[in-house]
Amino acid sequence: MLSEKMQQLINDQYHRELFSANQYLAMSSYFLQEDLDGFANFFRVQAEEELMHAMKQFDYLHEVDGKIEHGPIDSPSNTFGSLLEVFEEAYKHEQLITKHIHEIVKVAMQEGDFATHQFFQWFVMEQVEEESTMRTLIAKIKLIDGNKSALYLMNEELMKRKAEAEENAA
Ligand SMILES: [Fe+2]
Ligand SMILES: [Fe+2]
Repeated sequence: MLSEKMQQLINDQYHRELFSANQYLAMSSYFLQEDLDGFANFFRVQAEEELMHAMKQFDYLHEVDGKIEHGPIDSPSNTFGSLLEVFEEAYKHEQLITKHIHEIVKVAMQEGDFATHQFFQWFVMEQVEEESTMRTLIAKIKLIDGNKSALYLMNEELMKRKAEAEENAA
């Protein structure tokens, strides 16, 4: 049985995943406007993943007889100063998400809620991957340091990223 507190925490996290999807779509839009279709593709796939996270939590909550109180989603940022700024913001956001996931796991432990504890282990490892991805890309962007040919190649590279579902079907 889910505690009231845990139900609220998962509700908040579900809305945060939707916010993440929306934020990454805003970043994807920005890159389309900047004619960087590979970077736009990267954030589009990133958004699809966030939506998948939200759906996982949606399903879990109902599976344990909880419910979602559907509410508003915070507004994402729509203006970005530079390529690097977008990735730094995404990285900061992922670090914040990690904190929230850890908080859920901590409360699950305190409450002896083994199912929620185990369910969120997947997200703990997912966050390790998310932070690492952003860190690596930030390092690459810094390495490129405005070099147009290198930027072109990185854009081509990011064009290849596919959504997991698409990857599995291929
Ligand atoms: Fe997520
Ligand atoms: Fe994420």
